Amino acid sequence: MSQAELDSGRRKLDWARSHMPVHAELRRRYSEQRPFDGVTIAVGSHIEAKTGVFIETLAAAGADVVFTNSVSATTQDDVVAALLQLQHVQGYARHGCSDNELHELHLQTLRHGPQLILDDAAELTALMLDQCPDLRPRVLGVCEQTSTGVQRLQAMARDGVLSFPALAVNDTPMKHDFDNVHGTGESALTNLLAVTNLLLAGKRVVVAGFGYCGQGVAYKAQGWGARVTITEIDPRKALRAHMAGFEVAPMTDAVRNGDIYITTTGNRDVLRREHFEYMRDGAVIANAGHFHVEIAVHELQAMARGMREVRPGISEYELSDGRRINVVAHANLVNLAAPTSMGHPIEVMDQTFAMQFVAALYLLQHRARLGAGVHALPTEVDAEVAALKLASLGISIDRLSATQQDYIHAWRIGDIQSP
Ligand code: NAI
Repeated sequence: MSQAELDSGRRKLDWARSHMPVHAELRRRYSEQRPFDGVTIAVGSHIEAKTGVFIETLAAAGADVVFTNSVSATTQDDVVAALLQLQHVQGYARHGCSDNELHELHLQTLRHGPQLILDDAAELTALMLDQCPDLRPRVLGVCEQTSTGVQRLQAMARDGVLSFPALAVNDTPMKHDFDNVHGTGESALTNLLAVTNLLLAGKRVVVAGFGYCGQGVAYKAQGWGARVTITEIDPRKALRAHMAGFEVAPMTDAVRNGDIYITTTGNRDVLRREHFEYMRDGAVIANAGHFHVEIAVHELQAMARGMREVRPGISEYELSDGRRINVVAHANLVNLAAPTSMGHPIEVMDQTFAMQFVAALYLLQHRARLGAGVHALPTEVDAEVAALKLASLGISIDRLSATQQDYIHAWRIGDIQSP
């Protein structure tokens, strides 16, 4: 590691830290109490500056942190270098590593025998349950930050293999209402535009999935003047999209006139051969869901007579009839893995990682009564982070009066209607 690399990583951490007031407050509160003293915490996430500030904050609160990258393409080696200089922090992460190398990095992380796993897409948890059963007894619990991971943890619970509590941090309003909606919405679009240098206004944008991420992408694209079509498999989400004024169609219809496609489903093969057959010449496709499998790039490859890297981060596939289809960042997360990508805005990750922090604390303090399985985080814990964030913004809100408190818990006719 060179001094220049180390300096660059430190500058990135400084910039992120100065825009993460909730973490500053967590450090102020917990660096003396050190609630994680003696606890080894594994962090699996995108290893860049915001995650770095989170890792520093866990270490400041007493934890021995061992980190690894959840996705190879999103790792920033200079930030990794800077983090490895910190006391009580170790890590295994490398940009551009192969799937096999990533697997090895994850195993090295788990060999530290973490008591808490703060996971992304349940990657470390799945690996530990699958291949390191000897480590399972040490694990007190898991906190999961993304939708795909919660889905996977629920599958583990159904299979009866989840032998410890797992907190669904993704499912808290303070996480998904901001990170998934605003974070993914803004960063997927800004990164897509930066990579392509194209205009969004007037374009036909097809968004696959109208969950939290899809809504963020769709509303923000609409706000920039795009004409947005939604594809869904859930009739309620489809109806919600329709009543919000979006066009709703099956993908086989939507592909006939879209300019830009963004997948946000947490599912696989959402764009596949039968769709590539009908896409317009010049179509741009990108994925904002956790895994690249949302787009069946191998099918496009099989159909193509040639491929070139037409711009950094854009693979242009030429089909036998001359149409060109452009895949951004090899269908990896467009907001994190494209050449210019920096992930979610800092302020959003300040909240997301604060939720992981308070969830880890909650799990540690209440592990005796939380049984094995996937649990929601209590609303008070969520509200506490919201209050910290509001305070950092200098925003005050009203408080319930005693009469109002009584009123919202009353049900008798007289109590409800009396003046
Ligand atoms: P969600 O569950 O709220 O939404 C997913 C939506 O996709 C659902 O409405 C579902 O009905 C729909 N869907 C599923 N299969 C589909 C198909 N074949 N065609 C069309 N629609 C389909 O989940 P959320 O929170 O929106 O997350 C979506 C994905 O994005 C997950 O993989 C999650 O881990 C990931 N994620 C990515 C982030 C990023 O930085 N890019 C940030 C947060 C989440």
